[in-house]
Amino acid sequence: MDNLDLKKIISHCKEYGFVFSSSEIYDGLSAVYDYGPNGIELKNNLKQYWWKTMVHDNDNIVGIDSSIFMHPKIWHASGHTEAFNDPLVDNKDSKKRYRVDTLIEEHVEKIRKKVNKDIDKAEKRFGPDFDRKKYITTNPRIINYENLINKINSKLSKSLERNDLSSLKKMIDDLEIKCPVSGTSNWTEVRQFNLMFSTKIGAISEDSNNLYLRPETAQGIFVNFLNVQKTSRKKIPFGIAQIGKAFRNEIVARQFIFRMREFEQMEMQFFVKPGDEIQWYNHWKNKRMEWHQKLNLKKSEYIFHDHLNLAHYANAACDIQFNFPMGFRELEGIHSRTDFDLIQHQKFSKKKLQYFDPKIDKSYVPFVVETSLGLDRLFLSIICGSLFEEKTDVDTRTVMKFPPFLAPFKVAILPLVKTDELIVNAKKIHKDLQKIFSCQYDEKDSIGKRYRRQDAIGTPYCITIDHNSIKDNMVTVRDRDTMSQDRIPIERICERIKSKLYT
Ligand code: GAP
Repeated sequence: MDNLDLKKIISHCKEYGFVFSSSEIYDGLSAVYDYGPNGIELKNNLKQYWWKTMVHDNDNIVGIDSSIFMHPKIWHASGHTEAFNDPLVDNKDSKKRYRVDTLIEEHVEKIRKKVNKDIDKAEKRFGPDFDRKKYITTNPRIINYENLINKINSKLSKSLERNDLSSLKKMIDDLEIKCPVSGTSNWTEVRQFNLMFSTKIGAISEDSNNLYLRPETAQGIFVNFLNVQKTSRKKIPFGIAQIGKAFRNEIVARQFIFRMREFEQMEMQFFVKPGDEIQWYNHWKNKRMEWHQKLNLKKSEYIFHDHLNLAHYANAACDIQFNFPMGFRELEGIHSRTDFDLIQHQKFSKKKLQYFDPKIDKSYVPFVVETSLGLDRLFLSIICGSLFEEKTDVDTRTVMKFPPFLAPFKVAILPLVKTDELIVNAKKIHKDLQKIFSCQYDEKDSIGKRYRRQDAIGTPYCITIDHNSIKDNMVTVRDRDTMSQDRIPIERICERIKSKLYT
């Protein structure tokens, strides 16, 4: 039983009403997606779970909902107008535009594929005696490739960190990278491209009315720091959480909902006393990893990736990466952002953003540790970790093994056949259960087909009402994961479903 590749995941998401391309009947809008009837249920369940575990379960965290439009000075203060850039290059023949770091990373990926091909070949040649580790560490060809990969990666991160555009251009030339469309190396110089979308407010189109769609939700929290602290009467250390849309004009718009131009973030900024930030950074780093692992997908699918090259405002940072079909990629960022943002907002707004700490009888600008999770990436990780093709005795079934508490629908009510008597009874059970759980009612097609439909959308239980049910008040309960069926009294359905949801 294997997890599926991205193509199969995308088509499953469309076929079963999880995710559609935006504006599909107009041929879609690149890197913008809509959530369908099953997708929105899963997305809402993820939001609610995050909100409960981050805000309601923590006495020292409160929530806000700040607006998408904010004063344009905010983006100057945060550094986004000057530094929220991607380095781009155009191919003069195909007129296609690329992110330079992506072109180089794809080149590295090609080398990595050669390495893997060599290893697979050797494994076939040597058979069961093959010592993979020894081969990788002693074979000269593999060692050369590995050295080359390390050299390219290190040069890339140094050039990006120094914002050295001419060195990035030299890398493209030296590595003889070609445009995937035209096949030529006829590149323009490398330029910086700001990722923020801009728009105008009001009727007069003057420069002062320029606005940006927020590229992160965090700044709405920073600028509300004192409002929230004073009204909630929270003492440091405390956090402010928010779920909301963010917008980035991503150049590489691929990989489905992994990289979108309009997406949602679930962020929490935790305000601490200067000097305590690393202790809190480690606290949240571990807490967030535990949170993901509690979702009950395979624990080995999550790893930490500590940042070696830190942004100028951070004194520690890492990602939690998930093993997506395209490899381990960032799912959530945990950053110790120092007092950079609050200091910048003090400077640009000329308003004090300080906290009076009664414990030390002193005012200070707090330091901030943030946890920043992309809701759409979380959604994708849950789909990727839950969708399986499973061989049964008769065929292959596609089953979405969602953690039951996240499933769009917890139970489906199915009359065995379409007779008035069974329909009336099934609808009555459906109506009762609907008060407690998200339920589906389905009477179309054979019972086998209906079971498979529910498997494909991840419904943990199916309840079937048959002719005997009318006589003995018993129904058949089918378990999604084991496909086992047993008969229970109608009054125990609720208890059975709950037992699965809260284990
Ligand atoms: N406030 C910090 C911040 O925004 P980030 O690493 O740029 O940090 C945080 O973004 C998270 O937002 C990422 O880990 C990812 O889950 C999500 N994210 C970022 N860009 C995204 C995009 N274009 N599409 C979908 N999710 C994205």
